[in-house]
Amino acid sequence: MCGIVAYIGTRPARSLLVEGLKRLEYRGYDSAGVAVIDAKNSPAKIQLAKAVGRVSNLEKRLEGTTWNGTMGIGHTRWATHGGVTEANAHPHTDDGVGIALIHNGIIENYAVLRTYLEQKGHTFVTDTDTEVLTMLIGELYDAANGVDLEAAVQAALREVTGAYAICVICKEEPDVIVAARKGSPLIVGIGNGEYIVASDPQAIIAHTAQAMTLDDYNVVKITRDGFRTSTIDNVEVTPQVLQLESELDEIDLGGYEHYMQKEIFEQPAALRNTLRGRLDMKDGRVVLGGVSAFAKDLVRARRIIMIAQGTALHSAMIAEYLFEDLARMPTECEYASEFRYRNPIVDDGTVVMAVSQSGETADTLAALHEARDRGALTLGVVNVVGSTMARETDAGVYLRVGPEIGVASTKAFTGQVAVLSMLSLFLGRRRLMSPQTASELQTELAMIPDKIEQILALAPEIKAMTERYVQHDNWLFLGRGVNYPVALEGALKLKELSYIHAEGMPAAEMKHGPIALITEGMPAVFIANKGAQYEKVLSNIAETRSRGGHVIAVATEGDKHIRSVAEDVLFIPECPEPLSPMLTVVPLQIMAYYAALARGHDVDKPRNLAKSVTVE
Ligand code: F6R
Repeated sequence: MCGIVAYIGTRPARSLLVEGLKRLEYRGYDSAGVAVIDAKNSPAKIQLAKAVGRVSNLEKRLEGTTWNGTMGIGHTRWATHGGVTEANAHPHTDDGVGIALIHNGIIENYAVLRTYLEQKGHTFVTDTDTEVLTMLIGELYDAANGVDLEAAVQAALREVTGAYAICVICKEEPDVIVAARKGSPLIVGIGNGEYIVASDPQAIIAHTAQAMTLDDYNVVKITRDGFRTSTIDNVEVTPQVLQLESELDEIDLGGYEHYMQKEIFEQPAALRNTLRGRLDMKDGRVVLGGVSAFAKDLVRARRIIMIAQGTALHSAMIAEYLFEDLARMPTECEYASEFRYRNPIVDDGTVVMAVSQSGETADTLAALHEARDRGALTLGVVNVVGSTMARETDAGVYLRVGPEIGVASTKAFTGQVAVLSMLSLFLGRRRLMSPQTASELQTELAMIPDKIEQILALAPEIKAMTERYVQHDNWLFLGRGVNYPVALEGALKLKELSYIHAEGMPAAEMKHGPIALITEGMPAVFIANKGAQYEKVLSNIAETRSRGGHVIAVATEGDKHIRSVAEDVLFIPECPEPLSPMLTVVPLQIMAYYAALARGHDVDKPRNLAKSVTVE
C-alpha cells in the first residue's frame, strides 16, 4: 500500500520520480505527489507538487514547471488516516526547518505525538499520521548541536510505534536522502553515481539491477557518493546486496490492454516456470531446493498451520485438502490476522507455512513472527524474491511466476497452488505415497499449463456469457472439497473487480441458510468438475434450479449430462481432482475480468484497493 520512490544522482529527478510512480501506481492510487530540492539554488528550497487522483493528474500539474533538481522524493497514496485530499497527499512538510517526507505504513501513536507537538507550538494542516512524524523530525532537528537529518530521523523513529517505510529530505542538507523501514518494504537501488529508493523493484529495475535490502529498524543515509546504514540507535549495520531478477518487459503491458488480462493469459508460461526443474518423474520425487534442508523436519512434523490472507488464503485452503489427502499430514488453515492475536498453540513439531504473493502482507508477516517466537519452523511460499517473508522464514519455495501488477491476484494464485501441489507430493512421497502414484500425479501436473491454454481459448465464449448476466447484483459461487476454496476465490475476484455482491461457500452449506437468497434468475456458479462429490454437486444444482436460480457450471469436458441441468457450461479439460483447482479457477478469473469491463470499471485499479496490504 502506497508507492514510494526517491532519487539522488545527476539526472533531473522530477521525470524520474513520475516515471517511478507510474510503475508503482498499483500500490495506491488516490493521490500522488513529489518534492525536489535543487542544490544549485541558494538558499536551497523544496519544490512541491501534489494532486488528487492518478499519477497522470500529478503529471499535468507539473507541466510547465522548470525543476532542475537532481534529488527528490515521490509518493502515490492509499489513504489510511485522513480523507483523499490534496493536503493529505504526500510528501508532507514540517513548519520550520524545511523537511519533506513520504511514508508507507501507520504511525500508531500519532495522536499522543501530535498533542505533544501542538504543545510545543506546531500547527498541523492535515489529518494524517505522517505529518506528525514529519513535524517530530523537524522538532528534533538541531544541526548546530550535531542532530543532523540522519540523527533526527533516528531519534524520531525511537519515539514511534507502528509501521513505516519513509524517505526524508531537508533543505538544509540538499545532498542527502534519509530512508528507514519497519514493517513496510523498502529497497535501495544502487546505480552508477545514483541511488533509487523504492517500495518495490518495479521502480528500480529500469535503472539498475543491483539493490540493497533494509531490515526493520534500519536507517540509511544516502548521498551521491555513497551510503551509511545503521539502526535507529545508530549502530552501523552491513546491508545485504542482491540482484533484482525481474526484466523490464515483465512489468510492461506487452500488447495487452490490462495487467490482469496479461497475467491471466500468461499463466501457462508462468506455471511452466514454476514447475521447471522441480519435477522428477523417475521415482516420483519433487525437487524443491528451498526446503530440502528441512525435509526431515517437514516429513516428521506433527501438523502444519497455513497462514495467509485473501486470495493467498484460498490457495492455503487448497493445501489443507492436499496435504491431508495426499500426504496424510494434519493441516489447518487460518487467516494470519486471526492467528496472530488469538494465542495459538504451537507445540513441538508444528510447522507454520505462510503463503503470500508479495511477501510483505502485514498480517501474514506478524503471524509469522508470532509463530517463530513460539518455536515453530516457519516456511514461506512467496513470489517476490528477497521480500521480507522470503528473508525472515527458515526456508521456502518461490512461485517464479514473475511480477504481478494487476491488483487482483491471478497468476500468483495458480502459482501458489502449483507450488503447494508440489509440496504435497514432496511430503506424500516421503511419507506414504507410492513412487507410481507420485509419478502419475507429477505427469498430470506437468500437463496443467497446456490445459490452461485450452481454457484460455474459450475467453470469447466466457466473455459473451458473462455479459448476459452482468446486470445481476448478487451471485453465488459453490464448490465442494478441493474446489470449495475455488468457489471462494471466484466470488472474491468478481466482487473486488466488478463490485457485484458475490458469496462463495461449500455447496452443501447453501441449504443451511443462504438458499433463502436465491431469486428468479440469480446467477449461481457451480464448480462441477468430475470428482468424488460430483453427484452431490448435481443435487445442489437441482436444489438451486428448482428455486429459480440460474446455474453456470464449470464442468469436465465430455460430461454430457451437465448440459441438461445447467443453463450455461464452461468446460475444462479432464484432470485428477486434487490438481483441478488450477483449471477450475481460470474461467472464473476470465468472468471477473469481463464483468468488470462490462460494468465500466478499471480492472487493474479497483475501487478502494491497492496491491500488497502492508498495514493491519
Ligand atoms: C485479491 C488479492 C488479495 C491478496 C491478499 C494477500 O485478488 O490479491 O486478496 O491475495 O491481500 O496478499 P499477498 O499474497 O501479497 O500476501
